[in-house]
Amino acid sequence: MARKIIIDTDPGQDDAVAILLALASPEIEVLGVVAVAGNVPLELTAKNARIVCELAGKPDTKVFAGCDRPLRQPLVTAEHVHGKTGLDGPQMPDPTMPMQDQHGVSFIVETLRAEPADSVTLCALGPLTNIATAFETAPDIVEKVQEIVLMGGAYFEVGNITPAAEFNIYVDPEAAEIVFRSGRPITVMPLDVTHKALTTAPRVEAFRGLGTKVGTMVAEWTDFFERFDKEKYGSAGAPLHDPCVIAYLIRPDLFSGRHINVEIETGSNLTRGMTVADWWRVTDRPANATFMGDVDADGFFSLLTERLATL
Ligand code: BDR
Ligand code: CA
Repeated sequence: MARKIIIDTDPGQDDAVAILLALASPEIEVLGVVAVAGNVPLELTAKNARIVCELAGKPDTKVFAGCDRPLRQPLVTAEHVHGKTGLDGPQMPDPTMPMQDQHGVSFIVETLRAEPADSVTLCALGPLTNIATAFETAPDIVEKVQEIVLMGGAYFEVGNITPAAEFNIYVDPEAAEIVFRSGRPITVMPLDVTHKALTTAPRVEAFRGLGTKVGTMVAEWTDFFERFDKEKYGSAGAPLHDPCVIAYLIRPDLFSGRHINVEIETGSNLTRGMTVADWWRVTDRPANATFMGDVDADGFFSLLTERLATL
């Protein structure tokens, strides 16, 4: 039976590739895609999510708009990485598929309420505002969650938006704290993993070489957002962060990490949004997350290319 997931996302080119991977994978049933404000404001992430579903040839996918700002602080965005639309790169037509009327958070609550315990996986590719709001307003749904798999945080790589914090956690640390304290199984794809999943030239050419619309778009998105990371890190390509979350559902064997305690810094101005990960197990704080540290990058890109080829 396919694994039921809800994708919570702020597309973003790497979010877009993650959504494509999910929609291309028979092991996964996407119950809905919920947009959140993050890389760009909500209006754009909600539009981009629909652009991507249409590109995948799946206009029946339900797309919802969730929260338009973090729980307690003003929104921080990342146009410097993703461009002003969030999906800069190739020209994309405006979506024609409808946006669902229901608020994204109420979709999450209603969907989980209708499912048995331990049955739905939440895949979080952006700030955790929607999921935290759903848990706060309807604590009864928390037990319905099978697993939360999220892209966020860092230990060895520390930060990308501040010296101490990764973007998704930094944008809404209070939301992240609620999620990390939820008591449900959490799997984290931090920068420590995603900075190893680099879009090197041969990998991007493999996307382009598919000779399909999807392959071309993914290659062109990559061409666009790479420029920023290559310059910043001097790396051979850009990290393809968010698809790691979906790849983990299909091929968990590609990833390795540790079951450890992870707390979120919400106080200090200097380190706000830091994921304080007890990688070396130097405290007695109970483990609450599987914090990944490594990925078989070639295996990951082969899987991605093979699945994108089916769209
Ligand atoms: C995360 O931030 C966003 O810019 C990306 O989409 C990814 O989810 C990486 O820090
Ligand atoms: Ca994202």
